[in-house]
Amino acid sequence: MAKVTIDGTLIEVPDGTTILNAARQMGGPSVPPAMCYYSTLKESGGKCRVCLVKVAQGSVKDPRPLPKLVASCRTPVNDGMVVQSISAPEVLEARKSVVEFLLINHPLDCPICDQAGECDLQNLAYNHGISKTRYEEGRRTFEGIDIGDKIKLHMNRCILCYRCVFTANQITDNRVHGVMSRGDHAEISTYIEKAIDNDFSGNMIDVCPVGALTDKTFRFKSRVWFTNPVDAHRTCPKCSGNVVLWTKGNDVLRVSARTDRYNEVKEFICNECRFEHKNMQDWTIEGPRNIDRHSVIAQNHYPVTDLLKLKKEIERQIEFEKGHPRPTPSPTLNP
Ligand code: SF4
Ligand code: FES
Repeated sequence: MAKVTIDGTLIEVPDGTTILNAARQMGGPSVPPAMCYYSTLKESGGKCRVCLVKVAQGSVKDPRPLPKLVASCRTPVNDGMVVQSISAPEVLEARKSVVEFLLINHPLDCPICDQAGECDLQNLAYNHGISKTRYEEGRRTFEGIDIGDKIKLHMNRCILCYRCVFTANQITDNRVHGVMSRGDHAEISTYIEKAIDNDFSGNMIDVCPVGALTDKTFRFKSRVWFTNPVDAHRTCPKCSGNVVLWTKGNDVLRVSARTDRYNEVKEFICNECRFEHKNMQDWTIEGPRNIDRHSVIAQNHYPVTDLLKLKKEIERQIEFEKGHPRPTPSPTLNP
């Protein structure tokens, strides 16, 4: 075990744990943001640099600070390490610069993007970004590409985090897309737009932190905060069948995998559950999805206890008004 101090709090974690995961075990505002690391995908991380932290003391054996800020998702802890996340102004400044860098090419099309409201980059920009850009050159632009018949790629929104590539590599059995070219020319390609038609390809939509990969069966159907997310399951021979149904009235607009507090899917779902079962009758409903109250998706969603209180209040008011009828307004002359 290694003892590590993060923003003044001491925590003990198994040797080999990364600084990011140590901070996640601790929880709270010191947890660095992550745009490319994904705990269920091997080799992920090290691409986006938003998780930078300062190592003020390397270890008990070698207490010298590390010379530069490090990516917390790729740096393992050492016994006696002292880490600064939100307590170091230079870390916050660096994260702000990374957001500005990520937004150089990313379009500001949140008002029409399906990911708005559940976009990690949008949240990051609100939390760490600046509201203007210094960039004067033109942005990279691309036409939308169909990746199979259910997924649309908007390359101009892509931040090249590689999560979808790792998903295709590790979750599906036949990867047909990856990152081509380098630097400013790098782009996700399906290698001559070959369709991805294996059973788990839809998970690329869930792992994408921005709106670059979208579900064609849900596109432009509704803003996510106008939907009611509910946990549901079905017996599926291919996957766990545990999903979230994004509903409006009795219509199921979208089916997605369940994500944890860091927006990561722990149980990937198959394409049949995701795309082929858009009927309420296909699912056993477990109850409303617990949405973080700070999320815009939580708008107008009340926990059951609040609804019961509201119902009681309305009933009390009706009873009261029965005994105290309101006076009928007297007719007034139209001026
Ligand atoms: S399409 Fe999405 S998941 Fe894939 S590299 Fe781009 S941002 Fe990452
Ligand atoms: S989350 Fe660490 S570099 Fe992207």
